[in-house]
Amino acid sequence: MLKKLLPAVRGYEKQTVGASLMIIIEGVLEILIPYLMTKLIREGIEVADPRLGVILTYGGLMILMAIFALLAGALCARLAAVAGTGFAANLRNMLFRKVQDFSFANVDKFSSASIVTRLTTDVTNIQNLFTILIRMTVRNFIIMITAFCFAIAVNARLSIVFAVAIPLLAGIMLFIMIKAHPYFEKMLTKLDLMNARVQENLIAIRVVKAFVKGEDEKVTFDDSAVALRKAQMAAEKIVIWNNPLSQLIFYGAIIAVCFFGGRLIVGGGMGVGDLTGFLAYIGQILSSVMMLSMVFVSFIITRASQKRIVEILDEQIDISDDGADEGLEVTDGSVEFRDVDFSYSKNPDNLTLENVSFSVKAGETIGVIGGTGSAKTTLVQLIPRLYEVLDGQVLVGGHDVREYKLHSLRDKVAMVLQTNLLFSGTIEDNLRWGNEDATEEEMIAACRAACAHDFIMSFPDGYKTDLGQGGVNVSGGQKQRLCIARALLKDPKVVILDDSTSACDTATDAAIRKALRTQLKGTTTFIIAQRIASVMDADRVMVMDDGKLAAFDTPARLMETNEIYREVYNSQMKGGDEV
Ligand SMILES: Nc1ncnc2c1ncn2[C@@H]1O[C@H](COP(=O)(O)OP(=O)(O)OP(=O)(O)O)[C@@H](O)[C@H]1O
Ligand SMILES: [Mg+2]
Repeated sequence: MLKKLLPAVRGYEKQTVGASLMIIIEGVLEILIPYLMTKLIREGIEVADPRLGVILTYGGLMILMAIFALLAGALCARLAAVAGTGFAANLRNMLFRKVQDFSFANVDKFSSASIVTRLTTDVTNIQNLFTILIRMTVRNFIIMITAFCFAIAVNARLSIVFAVAIPLLAGIMLFIMIKAHPYFEKMLTKLDLMNARVQENLIAIRVVKAFVKGEDEKVTFDDSAVALRKAQMAAEKIVIWNNPLSQLIFYGAIIAVCFFGGRLIVGGGMGVGDLTGFLAYIGQILSSVMMLSMVFVSFIITRASQKRIVEILDEQIDISDDGADEGLEVTDGSVEFRDVDFSYSKNPDNLTLENVSFSVKAGETIGVIGGTGSAKTTLVQLIPRLYEVLDGQVLVGGHDVREYKLHSLRDKVAMVLQTNLLFSGTIEDNLRWGNEDATEEEMIAACRAACAHDFIMSFPDGYKTDLGQGGVNVSGGQKQRLCIARALLKDPKVVILDDSTSACDTATDAAIRKALRTQLKGTTTFIIAQRIASVMDADRVMVMDDGKLAAFDTPARLMETNEIYREVYNSQMKGGDEV
């Protein structure tokens, strides 16, 4: 799994290797210090007449090594921090790029809240693991093995203590890990749930307030926080044994060494210097075993995060334009559906659109009506290839949509989504989303067509008005008009308005339609609407009924032939409140 994350090291290889190198140097120096200590005692103190010169030389060397070890350690920490943050930045970039390529279906699968958690919390977890890996793993392996060799060299018989202590220590830690692992997994799912709750709540904070659901939400949050605490406690209750047990073994080993070593010294089989060195080695060996076990713990704890990140990186992009014709452009706005079946779950037995066929000439204005959930949005989303058909073909400008590069297709098929969003920034910034190079005249023309120019000019800052996050400081109807203008700026061949004037009053709605008709002569326009008045002046109207195209004709003829159309017309027009 980690192999998949390795490309994120790119650009920081030097720091990664440098940090590992520094920490190896630090480790080696640290091992040499007890060795010098042994020599100091052996050659400087334990001899018949102690020599100050030798003591000073070794002592000086030891101080020097300690200083170098400190420097190497500090340098390693710095390099590891640079490598770690760089690694995380790269990883986030990789994920973000991948998510940008996601189709609607891919996003549906993960949910945006979960994608956010993966890009933030999960990446931070992996970053910590990465830093721990480079700082701890190599160093402790080296210390453990070298110190072990030195210890054997000093006194092989006394090293038998390790034969008992190390397997015992490793065994206990492994046992604790195996016991704790399921609790950690559980804890992470609880954390996920809590994160999802927080995100969902903050994104929809206005809805929460409008429904006065604040208190309920506090209780639900408390519940998820308590569930997380319980899972965390359960995991920690097991892990907490790690420290006292390893200390027990640690000091047990030291007592054993002192006991046997003391007897050896008394018997003349060992010098005091050797014992001092040996005690230092035993400290190093056992503490490196403990540190390695910590690396292991982090690895286990972050396994869920690793999995979640790799899931995104591995996600098969549902819609790709590999193999599409690079130079193919949408030259006219004709649209044709040939026996199109569509299912959100890609299941032929659960079709959302069934056997839809129709043909629209360039420049026609098409109204689309039908009950809620009748698949109007689903139908038009297939035109800019936001979803892939299950069966059949969608053609734009005489070519299958799959023949175009997504960029060329979507550049010419502008869709104003039913649930619309603006971004933080000024009105102008938002409009330029449609077309970065638009001139001021083009921008104003698009806004006039969308009946947005007048209200924009009524703001003190006009086109420079700051919209705030998500466009909070414009009204629903104003937002819709800005979104239409943004789409029109692309100078598209096909414009799709999905219920895009629902929040505008009927007069504005009519004015927008009139402006579109006159200004976008060659552009094919699809207008999905709940109000029959919005489609009455269309060239032709589609009547959708439960995923099927029930009728497609001129409004006048539909009035005679189509029951649904007539019913909607009568119910809305009899009230006499429409145009
Ligand atoms: N992203 C999705 N994933 C799964 N099912 C979906 C998705 N979007 C819509 N559906 C389902 O597909 C069906 C058609 O939905 P669609 O949004 O096309 O209806 P609509 O005609 O646009 O309705 P409305 O007038 O309310 O906008 C509905 O039953 C809906 O539950
Ligand atoms: Mg819809």
